[in-house]
Amino acid sequence: MVEQWSDRWSRRGRMAASVTRPSRTPVEGLVSFNYGDPDADSLPLNEMVEAAEYLAENRRVDALGYQDPVRGDELNEALAEKLRRDQEIDATASEILVTTGAAGGLSLLCDMLIDPGDVVLADGPAWMGATNMFRLSGAETINVELDDDGLDPALVRTKLDELESQGTRPKFLYTIPTFQNPAGVETSLERRKGLAQLADERGLLMVEDDAYFDLRFSGEKKPTIYSLSRGGNVLFFGTLSKTIAAGLRLGYMVGPEDVVQTFVRGRVDSLRNSYSAALADWYLRSGKLQTHMEELREIYAKKCHHMLAALEREMPEGCSWTKPNGGFFCWVTLPEGCNAAEMLPQCVEAGVQYIPGTGFYSDGRGERNLRLSFSALNEDQIDTGIARLAAQTRAAMSVAT
Ligand SMILES: Cc1ncc(COP(=O)(O)O)c(C=O)c1O
Repeated sequence: MVEQWSDRWSRRGRMAASVTRPSRTPVEGLVSFNYGDPDADSLPLNEMVEAAEYLAENRRVDALGYQDPVRGDELNEALAEKLRRDQEIDATASEILVTTGAAGGLSLLCDMLIDPGDVVLADGPAWMGATNMFRLSGAETINVELDDDGLDPALVRTKLDELESQGTRPKFLYTIPTFQNPAGVETSLERRKGLAQLADERGLLMVEDDAYFDLRFSGEKKPTIYSLSRGGNVLFFGTLSKTIAAGLRLGYMVGPEDVVQTFVRGRVDSLRNSYSAALADWYLRSGKLQTHMEELREIYAKKCHHMLAALEREMPEGCSWTKPNGGFFCWVTLPEGCNAAEMLPQCVEAGVQYIPGTGFYSDGRGERNLRLSFSALNEDQIDTGIARLAAQTRAAMSVAT
C-alpha cells in the first residue's frame, strides 16, 4: 500500500509526505509555547450565535449557497471600510479577495506566482507556515536578517543586487512588518517607507502579511507598506483569525482588481466559506469587531508583559529576547554554545515545549533561537513554562561550557 503510494505522489506530494506536523492537542502536564492560537476564553461564541440568528431571521439564504468569489457588497464591503478606518488602506470591495484564512490566500499566491526553481526573499526569521508553502511550490527562500526595527530595506537592496548580478530575479519579498511572527518586532516607519520605495523603484513585488496589525498594545499605529507604495507592487494579506475566530477560516488579500480577478480564475471553488463570511460581515457591521479588538489588545498585552517579567526573573544571564509591542510572539536568543533544537527533548521531558529557531530560516540559521507564543496560555502556565525553560537552559549551558 505504502509502496504504491510512493509511486503516485507528485513532487509536492513527496515533499509533504516527508514532513511531520506537531499536534495541537494539549498534552497533560506539558506547557506548550508552540502555537500562536488565540485566547480561547475571549472567543465571541455568543455573538456568533446572534449572527446566525440574524441570518436566519433575515432569510440570508445566499449565505448557504454558492456565491461569486468577489462581491461588491457584504464582507468585501465591510472589510473595505475596516481597512480604510484601521489600516488607512484605500481599497474598493472589488480589490479585496476574501480567502480561506490568510493561509488560503498565501497558498493561492504560490499557485499563481511560483514556478519550481523560483527564488523568494523573506524576513529572516519568517513564519514557517508561509515559507513551507513556498518550498512545497518549488521555490527557494532566501532570508534577509531582521533586527529590532524590523526589515532593513538597505539589506534587501543589497541582496537584490547580488541576486540580479547572478541573473536571478526574486518573484517577491514576503514580509510581516507588524509584530512579526516569529520575532515579535515591528518594522519602523522609515524602513516601511524604504520598502515601499524599493517596491516602486525596482518593481519588486512585496507580499505584506499583516496578520497582527490590529493587536497593538500601545502607541501610534504605523502605516502599511501597501498604503505607502504608489500602488501595483504590493499585495496586502490580512486575517480575521486573530481578531474574531480562526475557525471561521477567513482571511483577505488586497491588490489591483485585475490581479484579484486572475487569482479568482486560478480556482474553481469560491475561495471562501460563504456562511462564515456572512457571520463575519454581521460582526463587522454591528461595530463589535472594534470593541473586541480593544479587549484583545488588553488581554494579549497583559499576557505578554507577564511573560517578559517571567523571562527577566528566571532566565540565566547571557539569554536575550525581543520585547513585543503587539501580536503573539517573543523570540529568545540563548547563549553561545546552546542549541535550541538539541535542548528540546529534555525540555519536553521537563514539561515545556517551544519551536526551535532553525524552522524559521531556510539556511540553518537560528540554532540559538526559539519562538515562544504567549497568546493561548494563562499566567500560571506562563510562569511554570518559563521556570522549566530557564532550568533546562541552565543545564544546557553547563554542558556547553
Ligand atoms: C504571519 C501569519 N500569517 C498568516 C497566518 C495564517 O492565518 P489564517 O488563520 O488566517 O490562515 C498566521 C497564523 O498563524 C500568521 O502568523
